[in-house]
Amino acid sequence: MQKAKRTKAIYPGTFDPLTNGHLDLIARGAKIVDELVVAILRNSEKGTPLFTVPEREAMLCEATAGMGNVSVATFDGLLVDFAKQVGAKAVLRGIRAVSDYEYELQMAMMNRKLDPELETLFMMPGERYTYVSSRLIKGVFQLGGDVSSLVPLNVVERLKAKVPGSAR
Ligand code: PNS
Repeated sequence: MQKAKRTKAIYPGTFDPLTNGHLDLIARGAKIVDELVVAILRNSEKGTPLFTVPEREAMLCEATAGMGNVSVATFDGLLVDFAKQVGAKAVLRGIRAVSDYEYELQMAMMNRKLDPELETLFMMPGERYTYVSSRLIKGVFQLGGDVSSLVPLNVVERLKAKVPGSAR
């Protein structure tokens, strides 16, 4: 009997921090592939992160603990190289609005140029998360806003511990 083909995809990102929008996408992705590797970029060019890579990894591991086919990893260098290393055939990315599209298209096309065998899958998060981004979460929390319905509880706890003087 022929061995069933298993589909493995990577969901890469900075995850500084993880949001409910990311989690929503992880859950959707995990339903359509056999294995989903959530991959945190270690050498992000996005400036100084709020959370260290091990903190982000811990938050993701805690939040995805109940998802049997989801694992968490970190990588640096090219995404296509990491994909090859773990045997992933596809990259999963979320598109919240038209404004995401150009950046995502550029990345998908560059990744295709670098590795024509690696496909990019775009999925839309639930509409209640279309405005949620890690950048906005950090900004709103640091200014005293309530983000507790937009990030998992473990992230709220870590935000409180990380941001001095926040008693929310
Ligand atoms: O959450 P983000 O910050 O939008 O994720 C961006 C990420 C990590 C997917 C992207 O920066 C990336 O894949 N970086 C790795 C370097 C790489 O492969 N660059 C070439 C493709 S554009």
